[in-house]
Amino acid sequence: MVDLFDARLEYTQGRLDEHTSAADPMTQFHAWFEAYQQSEPHEVNTMTIASVDSHGQPWQRVVLLKAYDENGFIFFTNYQSNKGQHFAENPRAALHFFWGEQERQVQVQGLISKISRAETATYFHSRPRDSQLGAWASQQSQPIADRETLEANFAAVKARYESEDVVPVPDHWGGYRITPSRLEFWQGGAARLHDRVEYQQQENGDWVKTRLNP
Ligand SMILES: Cc1cc2nc3c(=O)[nH]c(=O)nc-3n(C[C@H](O)[C@H](O)[C@H](O)COP(=O)(O)O)c2cc1C
Repeated sequence: MVDLFDARLEYTQGRLDEHTSAADPMTQFHAWFEAYQQSEPHEVNTMTIASVDSHGQPWQRVVLLKAYDENGFIFFTNYQSNKGQHFAENPRAALHFFWGEQERQVQVQGLISKISRAETATYFHSRPRDSQLGAWASQQSQPIADRETLEANFAAVKARYESEDVVPVPDHWGGYRITPSRLEFWQGGAARLHDRVEYQQQENGDWVKTRLNP
C-alpha cells in the first residue's frame, strides 16, 4: 500500500461567513471565480460534471465551463456521448470546482437541459475551424480502432468542408445548461474547521443560506 498518511496541508487562505457571503449564489460564484482567475491557473474554466446512468451508477469527467450567469452554467459536448445519453434519461447533473490555490471548492446540483440551437451555433462558430471540424470527426465515447482512423476521419471531414466558408453545426453537438437548485461553497480552515455555506433554492425562487458542519 502507498501510504500518504503524512500528506496534509493546513488550510490558511481565508474564511467564509454565512452572514457576509452574497445573498445570491451566482454572485458569490462570480466573486470566487474572479479570485481564482486572478491567481492565473493553468486552465481557469475546468469543472467536473457528474451524470448518473440508468443503473444508478455515477460517472464524472472534466469539461470546460463556457458561460455562466444567473440562469446557470453552460458547457458544450456531443449529445450522443455517454454523458449525453445519461442526461437524456436522467436530466440531473452535479458540478464540482476545486480551486486549490484558494483552498476552495464549489459544488452545484441541479437540472440539466440543452440550450437553443441558436445559442449553440453562436458558440460553435466562435471556435477555431479545426475545432469545428473535430466535432464532426469524433463520435465521442464510441470505440475507434486506432489513432490513424481518428486522423483519417478528421482529414475526410476537412476535405468535405474545404470549399465551404461556414462549417455547419452538427446535430449531435451542442450546449447544456445546468440550472442550479443547490450550491455549496467550501473554504478550508485550520484544524479541519472548514467553512461551508449551502444555498438552497425555495419554491418561490428565493435562496436560503445555511452554514454546515465541516
Ligand atoms: C481539461 C479538459 C477539458 C475538457 N473539456 C471538454 C468539453 O468542454 N466538452 C467535452 O465534451 N469533453 C471535454 N473533455 C473530455 C471529457 O472529460 C470526456 O472525456 C468526454 O466529454 C467524454 O465523456 P463521456 O464519455 O463521459 O461522455 C475535457 C477533458 C479535459 C481533461
